Amino acid sequence: MKIGVLTGGGDCPGLNAVIRAVVRKADAFDSRVVGICNGWKGLVDLAPMDLDIKAVTGILHTGGTIIGTSRTNPYKDPSGPDKVLRNFRLLGLDALIAIGGEDTLGAASKLFERGLPVVGVPKTIDNDLSGTDFTFGFDTAVSIATEAIDRIHTTAESHNRVMVVEVMGRHAGWIATFAGIAGGANVVLIPEKSIDIDEVCDLILRRHSRGKNFSIVVVAEGAKFQEKPGAEGELVTQEARTDEFGHVQLGGISQLLASAIEKRTKFETRFVVLGHIQRGGSPTAHDRILATRYGIYATEMVHRCEFGKMAALQGNRIVAVPLAEATAKEKTVDMVLYSVAEEFFG
Ligand code: F6P
Repeated sequence: MKIGVLTGGGDCPGLNAVIRAVVRKADAFDSRVVGICNGWKGLVDLAPMDLDIKAVTGILHTGGTIIGTSRTNPYKDPSGPDKVLRNFRLLGLDALIAIGGEDTLGAASKLFERGLPVVGVPKTIDNDLSGTDFTFGFDTAVSIATEAIDRIHTTAESHNRVMVVEVMGRHAGWIATFAGIAGGANVVLIPEKSIDIDEVCDLILRRHSRGKNFSIVVVAEGAKFQEKPGAEGELVTQEARTDEFGHVQLGGISQLLASAIEKRTKFETRFVVLGHIQRGGSPTAHDRILATRYGIYATEMVHRCEFGKMAALQGNRIVAVPLAEATAKEKTVDMVLYSVAEEFFG
């Protein structure tokens, strides 16, 4: 078989581990792999690259993606899907492995309906893809955010400050919740629950009245302030411009939060935006293993002609779930888990 592989959306630690596993497993099946450069853009514009064993040697531990990525939406232009299908045939491909999050795999799901033999691999540091317990990249992001919170602790304590740490998480607060629990945050704010600033300040004041001289607040970039009870406000954005999937560039909630906290509590407050540091660099051992398992399983799915599905982690096993099911709605934070973080608030 001749298999195409593409990585779409935001990059994520572990992408190269998946690509390596696909190439190695394909070789064991006597199949060939072609890299499609820069996500769906490489199928719309025809940008292939050869991926042999040599090309994937030494990349297991590296961050980013050797075949590039983009937020190109093949459905943005009405001629896009036809171009993808035509170029897929032109390259003589038998199957495509699309590694991505809800946007990339949402497009894969629609293209499958149009006859594209595609298999998905779940990627996003946000961990907000349904059908799978975990996406690869998430563990790395949580580890980086936890380390950052640990470091912020010592400076917060030395200066008697409140520190607000902004982590990624557009629709879901998985990174905030996990890193908040692991880092011992005093408040964790997520998109799933709008921010009641009075409650946040009460928690901080309560903590400081008990003799603590500093607090750590972790906030997901996609969290929103509550405008009035039951009504949430707007997303805090960097730019009004949207990408091809209609997403705005988020960022800045921590700054607003820090100034509101300082104004109300009178405690000196600073903010830190972790941003793309969470997506860069080497994947954790956990993510290398998960990404490798996904790559092997996805290649097996291709050889079983099990198309229109995504390799997914359920419990301890990798299974195949329909792409349509995985991309139907975002997987938001389990509130039972969030309540564990809440035990340590204030
Ligand atoms: O989708 C993953 C993600 O890391 C989000 O958490 C974040 O909002 C977005 O990507 C940032 O994307 P970009 O790198 O395109 O600014």
